[in-house]
Amino acid sequence: MISICDVKKKYSSGRKAFYALDGVSLEIAEGEFVAITGKSGSGKSTLLNMIGTLDSVTSGSIFVDGEDLSKYSGKKIAEYRNKKVGFVFQSFYLEPSYTVYDNVELPLVLAGKTGKQNRKPVEAALEEVGLLSKIKERARNLSGGEQQRVAIARAIVNRPAYLLADEPCGNLDTANSENIMRILASLHALGKTVIMVTHDPEDAEKAERVVTMSDGKIVSDRRNKQN
Ligand SMILES: Nc1ncnc2c1ncn2[C@@H]1O[C@H](COP(=O)(O)OP(=O)(O)OP(=O)(O)O)[C@@H](O)[C@H]1O
Ligand SMILES: [Mg+2]
Repeated sequence: MISICDVKKKYSSGRKAFYALDGVSLEIAEGEFVAITGKSGSGKSTLLNMIGTLDSVTSGSIFVDGEDLSKYSGKKIAEYRNKKVGFVFQSFYLEPSYTVYDNVELPLVLAGKTGKQNRKPVEAALEEVGLLSKIKERARNLSGGEQQRVAIARAIVNRPAYLLADEPCGNLDTANSENIMRILASLHALGKTVIMVTHDPEDAEKAERVVTMSDGKIVSDRRNKQN
């Protein structure tokens, strides 16, 4: 369970203070598939980054499974990022000269696991995104859609409870976007909590719940009946 309580994020440019998040409160239960949508600059990435501890709040708090993220020390933050959440970025951030295997294995290595024991989880994650056949390929040789699927495999290889995806279809064509959306839906069906930022209304409709932001505030929070 994620509880976001009156979170504000202030940026100061010159004398004027600007609130990228201006009092956001939100609860996300385990197993939900939530889309966060809204215009460019409305604060979507800022909010997701805070859930992922990539950025810190100015005021308010975020609890994940009862723990206050702002109370985490460096070591706890590293552990949280590595094990509890999987992050998928708009621009994949794969290591282009590494193989697909090495890219997906990275979170396991960061968790201190090396060698043969990693083969099974890496293969399982690649199987889930339909890319087992590319396991030995260098990341730079893959198409954009394939690279994003590798990024998803990397995000799930440690079996995190929460999958955070910022515009996972942002750079992709329709066919690849549909593929990514199917993968997110199947991960949700397997019980993962999926939080996806998207500016695409069609993609948002594929989630169970759609949270809309505007000027750093949540302006609507509704459930999709069909999902
Ligand atoms: N480091 C920063 N310093 C100053 N302002 C910032 C900083 N990071 C973000 N902002 C501002 O905060 C606001 C929210 O940014 P954010 O990236 O969360 O928007 P977004 O909803 O994800 O937009 P997009 O759909 O374009 O990705 C924007 O107006 C942005 O310019
Ligand atoms: Mg953004």
